[in-house]
Amino acid sequence: MKIGFIGIGKVGFAIANHLQKLGHQIVVGSNDPQSGSLQKALKANPAFRTSGIQEMVSESEIVFLATPFGANQQLLQGLVFGGKPLVDCTNPVGAGITHGLNSLKSGAEAVQEWAHDAKVVKAFNIYGFENFVDNSFPGYDVKPLMLIAGDDASAKETVASLLREMDYFPKDTGPLSQALHLEHMTLLWVKMVRMNGHHPHFVWAYLEK
Ligand SMILES: NC(=O)c1ccc[n+]([C@@H]2O[C@H](COP(=O)([O-])OP(=O)(O)OC[C@H]3O[C@@H](n4cnc5c(N)ncnc54)[C@H](OP(=O)(O)O)[C@@H]3O)[C@@H](O)[C@H]2O)c1
Repeated sequence: MKIGFIGIGKVGFAIANHLQKLGHQIVVGSNDPQSGSLQKALKANPAFRTSGIQEMVSESEIVFLATPFGANQQLLQGLVFGGKPLVDCTNPVGAGITHGLNSLKSGAEAVQEWAHDAKVVKAFNIYGFENFVDNSFPGYDVKPLMLIAGDDASAKETVASLLREMDYFPKDTGPLSQALHLEHMTLLWVKMVRMNGHHPHFVWAYLEK
């Protein structure tokens, strides 16, 4: 697939690099050719192509958003998605590792308001980028869980299919409003790892019988 990225820092690069190694074409949208993360990403993976953000959206089949949440409104308003899936990997984090929108609504629903003609799917947000750089867990017979949420079934299936290729276990949690709870799972993971010393290579798993 032709897959676009807005934001190619720790999260964006890890996901884009994995997808490129699986054979997908990666286009990084940036309006700043001097961007430090863009230069670093192109050096680390010369197979990435770049273009302006709207050009990237227009030519991509699916777009990943991996930017600081505070940048999203300005970035997204004015872009034309034409119904394409937009994977929201971003997390609104407030002071003291609280929910940045006071838990009143999810960041993903705000992203959907700003990117009104995209089909937003929340994914890749429930744990740290370390588990996007390397999601192999040798010795376990379960795969790292990736909870997703969104209002459009076909957009969610596109994301789930990419997740299966990447060796995650995707689980659809329901409509985009569920993203609020996924964003709280992030806060739990971040507090456990970044504040309380748990190992960053820990992921959630799904067991059902
Ligand atoms: N870090 C984690 O473990 C983790 C895990 C899951 C989700 N998340 C979420 O994922 C998002 C990205 O996190 P990250 O750790 O990857 O951050 P990061 O390493 O700082 O990368 C952020 C990326 O966004 C770009 N960017 C920043 N401001 C921008 C703007 N105004 N317009 C366009 N691009 C802009 C940066 O470009 P420049 O280099 O040019 O500034 C960079 O490519 C955040 O919302 C975070 O909460 C993080």
